[in-house]
Amino acid sequence: MSLQRRTTLTKYLIEQQRENNNLPADLRLLIEVVARACKLISYHVSKGALGEALGTAGTENVQGEVQKKLDVLSNEILLDANEWGGNLAAMASEEMETLFPIPSKYPRGEYLLVFDPLDGSSNIDVNVSIGTIFSVLRCPNGSEATEDSFLQPGTRQVAAGYAVYGPQTVLVLTTGNGVNGFTLDRELGSWVLTHPNMRIPEDTREYAINASNARHWYPPVQQYVNELMAGKTGPRQADFNMRWVASMVADVHRILSRGGIFMYPADRRTPDKPGKLRLMYEANPMSFIVEQAGGAATNGRQRILEIEPKSLHERVAVFLGSKNEVERVTRYHEEGT
Ligand code: AHG
Ligand code: MN
Ligand code: MN
Ligand code: MN
Repeated sequence: MSLQRRTTLTKYLIEQQRENNNLPADLRLLIEVVARACKLISYHVSKGALGEALGTAGTENVQGEVQKKLDVLSNEILLDANEWGGNLAAMASEEMETLFPIPSKYPRGEYLLVFDPLDGSSNIDVNVSIGTIFSVLRCPNGSEATEDSFLQPGTRQVAAGYAVYGPQTVLVLTTGNGVNGFTLDRELGSWVLTHPNMRIPEDTREYAINASNARHWYPPVQQYVNELMAGKTGPRQADFNMRWVASMVADVHRILSRGGIFMYPADRRTPDKPGKLRLMYEANPMSFIVEQAGGAATNGRQRILEIEPKSLHERVAVFLGSKNEVERVTRYHEEGT
């Protein structure tokens, strides 16, 4: 029997540090600690009805959403894992109204961690894939963070990733040198490199959108989706398939695995809030990952990563995935079709 040689997350990060020298030890530690927290979240997710984490917490978050117990528990797991390491100035999350400064009893560092602790909460109680999304920024003013410290365009991210809690638990990560996926080996507790150098095909025959909102969409999206639905007899002269998991992490992971376009457009119901997804901890980290895998990500008008954030929980329209489809639907917005 020969030794099975596997690259773990730790080995991968140390090799990145050595080869690209763009992975300071503090950032490597931060990624490892977030990955460890995702293992604990995965444990609670997989317990389901056998554990204590199903159902609602009976509280509301700043988004006006009823929090699930797992939203709150996942948030606490990430805060508890990351507050003492000495590499963060502060954290922020979908589930907290404002920033969480590192308690004064701990040393502070130069990074900011912002996350969606549990993405796809509506799927928790029905056993459909959910996830965690995180983004790492440098704190512009040393280690004294304010809420404004987080308001940086997505191009300033130094790392981003997600964990998808599905049939397998997979961590997908970028530090600016491509995208790599690691599958959790539950018996050993290690993240094993199983998806090296993930790439998104430039073309696709698959799209993801919540079609129940169609009557609310603006014309460019209506035109784009109608053309996809027209199939071979329509202007695209091809049949398209549709998927909508209602967990951004699951839909994006499918797109990273086999291509596709994911859309959560602005619609007429909330003219002041473009769509549902949040810029800082959903759109930005996912856009960084998608671009690093050869895809594209816009809000219909501009590259998501170049948007200057105005507030921590601001929403943004999202079109991301296979480059040629994202460019097409963005063109329809520009042409005002
Ligand atoms: P969260 O559970 O973190 O609030 O995010 C849910 C988001 C995203 O994961 C998903 O793509 C979208 O909501 C689904 O929205 P609809 O339920 O409107 O389809
Ligand atoms: Mn939510
Ligand atoms: Mn989310
Ligand atoms: Mn969430």
